[in-house]
Amino acid sequence: MSSSSAAQQPGSFVLAQPLNGECAIPGDKSISHRSLMLGALAIGETIVSGMLEGEDVIGTANAMRALGAEIERDDKGLWHVWGRGIGGLIEPEQVLDMGNAGTGVRLIMGICAGYPMTVFFTGDGSLRKRPMGRIAKPLENMGARFISRDGYRLPMGMVGAKKPMPQTYELPVPSAQVKSAVLFAGLMAPGTTTVLETEHSRDHSERMLRFFGADVQAEQDNKHLHVRLQGQPTLKAANIVVPGDPSSAAFPVVAATICPGSDVLVKGVGLNPLRTGLFDTLIEMGADLTFVNEREEGGEPVADVRVRHAELRGVEVPPGRAPSMIDEYPILSVAASVAQGKTTMHGLAELRVKESDRLAAMARGLAASGVKVEEGEEHLVVHGGEGSVTGGATVQTELDHRLAMSFLILGLVAKAPVTIDDVAPIRTSFPNFLDLMANLGATLR
Ligand code: S3P
Repeated sequence: MSSSSAAQQPGSFVLAQPLNGECAIPGDKSISHRSLMLGALAIGETIVSGMLEGEDVIGTANAMRALGAEIERDDKGLWHVWGRGIGGLIEPEQVLDMGNAGTGVRLIMGICAGYPMTVFFTGDGSLRKRPMGRIAKPLENMGARFISRDGYRLPMGMVGAKKPMPQTYELPVPSAQVKSAVLFAGLMAPGTTTVLETEHSRDHSERMLRFFGADVQAEQDNKHLHVRLQGQPTLKAANIVVPGDPSSAAFPVVAATICPGSDVLVKGVGLNPLRTGLFDTLIEMGADLTFVNEREEGGEPVADVRVRHAELRGVEVPPGRAPSMIDEYPILSVAASVAQGKTTMHGLAELRVKESDRLAAMARGLAASGVKVEEGEEHLVVHGGEGSVTGGATVQTELDHRLAMSFLILGLVAKAPVTIDDVAPIRTSFPNFLDLMANLGATLR
């Protein structure tokens, strides 16, 4: 069921003491989705540990079951996926309701595009507003057909290609979701499917496809990264260890950075270099982050991050950094609100088509909390400094989990509480967020 139908639960954070202690971060959302999808396309049993059990990922598990995979969670928290092999999926009998999950719906559209079957997709009020043309167009090139609401919005029906064709596709927007959908569709096509990207987006699909035995090569020329997949591989079941999600770690990391006296160890944070833009930016701003116990888990770099409070200064965040921190601008804006001086974030066009128009929603919520902001078409300027967050506002989070967590954390440094209209959307990506923050010292009122 989509979270839009539940009654709203407003809340605000109260800081009892400086944030202190250790916390373990839930599994990476991007990797969790992909482990279920590729597990379902592999032959044999894939076992996944560290799976994010948020609503978005549960939605993907249900969708892959409807497409014929057998998926079970055991009482130790391991997820078992018995795949059907490339070409083995079946037409779902029901509409696939993907809830709030852009990654879920877009990647599954890619998977289904190469099957001669009809699949219907929908989602919650947020997902139904988001553009799906960016996915439908390259999948149409391969032979799939779509019928949708105006502007390629959900609900949508798709008739997959009888004879999927490989293609070379240049991404018009830097998007790992589009790249992944094209590659996943290419699994059913003969020959080489190539995606060209000018700005590098997260490469979890490429890494995991290789891990399951597919031939995926990446080669950089003077303009593009060429990602090439050889179609119709045999994917072999593999055991996946999901690292902690750096996009979730971002919340306690920023909270400890901005609350005086704090000292927190955030354990098991995935540090794929295409995901670490926020940490780079915080360090430039003067944050005190130490990466300890660096290791590799399931083919991804991982470390524990020790965070101590630090005084921050405003910085310029270049547009080229956007793909590596695309989900972190809401929480970076919170850090910028207490940083001395001006922080300018460039290259934010994609924020307008996330779970909400995050650029507009951040600007509105910060301004309502007393922070001086300037919103441009593709940039945001935050004027920060001590005492700049007066608070006292109720912020609309528009079914957007990252806005909800960001504004709760803004309240930790506000003179009067910052209340969010609804804490429920947090469950989509970080189901234990409120308990984890309470253990560190921030409780929900
Ligand atoms: C994701 C890619 C990003 C990100 C989303 C997860 C993924 O979206 O915002 O939360 O798992 O591929 P885009 O690729 O559309 O930028």
